[in-house]
Amino acid sequence: MTREISVELQKVSKLYGQDKVVDEVSFTVEKGEVFVMIGPSGCGKTTTLKMINQLIPHSSGNILVNGTDVAELDVVELRRSIGYVIQYIGLLPHLTIQENIAFVLKLTKHPKKMQKDRAEELIETVGLPLNYLNRYPRELSGGQQQRVGVARALAANPDILLMDEPFGAVDPLTREQLQNELLRLQESIQKTIVFVTHDMQEAFKVGNRIGILRQGKLVCLGTPMEIVKSDDEFVKNFIGQGALFEVFDTIPVTRVLQKDFPTARYDQKVDLQAEELEDWENVFIIDSDDSCKGYIPLSSLNSDGSYTADQIIPLPKASSPDISVKLAVQEMLWGGRTWLPIVDEKSGFKGIVQFRSCAGLVAGDRR
Ligand SMILES: Nc1ncnc2c1ncn2[C@@H]1O[C@H](COP(=O)(O)OP(=O)(O)OP(=O)(O)O)[C@@H](O)[C@H]1O
Ligand SMILES: [Mg+2]
Repeated sequence: MTREISVELQKVSKLYGQDKVVDEVSFTVEKGEVFVMIGPSGCGKTTTLKMINQLIPHSSGNILVNGTDVAELDVVELRRSIGYVIQYIGLLPHLTIQENIAFVLKLTKHPKKMQKDRAEELIETVGLPLNYLNRYPRELSGGQQQRVGVARALAANPDILLMDEPFGAVDPLTREQLQNELLRLQESIQKTIVFVTHDMQEAFKVGNRIGILRQGKLVCLGTPMEIVKSDDEFVKNFIGQGALFEVFDTIPVTRVLQKDFPTARYDQKVDLQAEELEDWENVFIIDSDDSCKGYIPLSSLNSDGSYTADQIIPLPKASSPDISVKLAVQEMLWGGRTWLPIVDEKSGFKGIVQFRSCAGLVAGDRR
C-alpha cells in the first residue's frame, strides 16, 4: 500500500550567518501520521517546524506540502492552511475565547454566524463547556487555555497541524490528560501532525514515528520500537536506559487495537464462510443499538452458524483506551486471557486488543 505524503523535507538547511542551525534535514510525514521531532534544547526543532509553514524561510533544500514546493505557494495562504499550536498558547488576551478560536475565520472573512457555529463545535471537540466561549483567556487555567489553542488551530479545518511543545507548560497530570485527549481527537480527525517535544515519554506516547535531532542534524528516525533499538551512542544516551520498557508503559493500547474483529448481529446466524473469521477464535455479537452483547467461541457455534442466546458469553471486564500496552498485557496476565475489550466511557466499544498484537509491537510490525 502506498501512503500519501503530506509533508516532505528534502535536505533542508537553515543558516543564520555562518551558523547552520538546521543541517540537510530530510524526512517525510505521511497523511494522518503523528511525526514527533525531539532533541536537546537548541538542536533546531522549532526552526525546522517553522520552516514547514514558512514562518521561517529555509536557506536551501526543498519543502513540499501536499506535493507542492512551498516556494510555489502563497506564504500567507500556506500559513493559514496549516494549524499551528505553541507552548505558551499565544491566545490574544483582549479577545474572548470565541473570538480567539474563530480568529483565522474572521481574517478570512467568513460569515459571523459560521464563526460562532465553528467556535461552538470546536470548544466541545476539545472538551470544554460551551459557556467558556464568552470568557477571556485569563479566566481559564493553563490546561484549558492549551485546549483553546488546539481548537483555534483546528478552526479553518487544516489537514496539517504543527505543534511546538504544546503541552510543555502544564503540570504532569494535565499534560497526560491533554495527550490522551489529543490521541482521542486524532482518532476522529486524522490530521497530519508534526509535533515537537523534548519529553521522550511524550514522544513514545503520541508519535507514530519519531525523528531525533542533534545540532541541526537528524540522527535517528523510526517508530518508537525502532528508536529504542537504535545502536547510535547519542540516541542511546538521549533516550536513557530502560527505554525499551518505558515504551511499553507509554505506548497507548489504541496503537494495537483491532477494530476489524468478526461480528454478527444478534438474532442472525454467523456466516462461517466469512473471511473476517480467519485467525479469530471468537465472534462478537452486536445488538441493534450497536453495543456488544458478548462473544461466542467459533468452536461452540452450530454447524450452520446458528446459536442460542445462552451461548453468548458476556464480555470480560473492559479496559479504557487510555491505558498503555504494558497495562493491557498486565490485565491479560491477571485475567488469564489472550485478549481484552477496550471500551471508551463516552463512545462505547472501541475494539479488541490481542496479546499477539502486543507481541507484534515487539517484532516491529506495527506503528
Ligand atoms: N533568529 C536567529 N538568529 C540566530 N540564531 C538563531 C535564531 N533563531 C534561532 N537561532 C539558533 O538556532 C538554533 C536552533 O533553535 P531552535 O529554536 O530551532 O531550537 P529548539 O530545538 O527548538 O530548542 P528548544 O528545545 O530550546 O525550544 C539555536 O542554537 C538558536 O540559538
Ligand atoms: Mg523550540
